[in-house]
Amino acid sequence: MRLVKLIANLGYGSRKEIQMAIRNGWVTDREGNRLKADSKTAHEDILFDDEPLDPAQGVVILMNKPVGYTCSAKDQGRLVYDLLPDRFRMRKPALSTIGRLDKETSGALLFTDDGTFLHKVISPKSNVPKVYEVVLDRPLKGDEADLFASGEMMLESEDKPLKPAELEVLGETSARLTLHEGRYHQVRRMFAATGNHVNELSRSRIGSLGLEGIEEGTWKVLSEADKAQIFE
Ligand code: URA
Repeated sequence: MRLVKLIANLGYGSRKEIQMAIRNGWVTDREGNRLKADSKTAHEDILFDDEPLDPAQGVVILMNKPVGYTCSAKDQGRLVYDLLPDRFRMRKPALSTIGRLDKETSGALLFTDDGTFLHKVISPKSNVPKVYEVVLDRPLKGDEADLFASGEMMLESEDKPLKPAELEVLGETSARLTLHEGRYHQVRRMFAATGNHVNELSRSRIGSLGLEGIEEGTWKVLSEADKAQIFE
């Protein structure tokens, strides 16, 4: 791809602005040589304003989402995109979240601009487990794990039972729940159906991929090895 288009598609500016940036010498290689519009320099060796370019198309990002941010590109209030550089909203192809977390849920949230990868993660065939840490309003009764594992649990206004899910009791009012599907507000609705209420909810893992080293409100670009962990 030509340099101007490549940089414009990453959201750094319009094609006109990027042409100007190239003319002004703001686009260089790692040795500081100014690049021309027809340069064939490898993506990872291109600097814009002395900083390496953002990752090329096919990027996957893992964010540690804080409570209070909505998984939308255009709702009112604080959005998960506000935690990424502004230019990421202008990327072509667009960056979208892989699934969603409620505004009041924190934890592991993936973004990608790679439609094939997105579908692989959400496909029932991949069966990627998602692990949630839950703090409840009232003590667990003791029968929740069996109910969740039964494969027969029905949620209100749905016509298909939930797939078996694993509940690990961590304390009187805390538990870890592993789901193999993602229905609307699933964790909150599962506990509501048992007469309880979820006070705090956080997703700690997607497959084997966790949030080690990623502070709340920050994110990282996943390596191939990180990505593979999603399917392990
Ligand atoms: N289940 C919920 O209830 N909320 C989430 O954000 C994710 C799973």
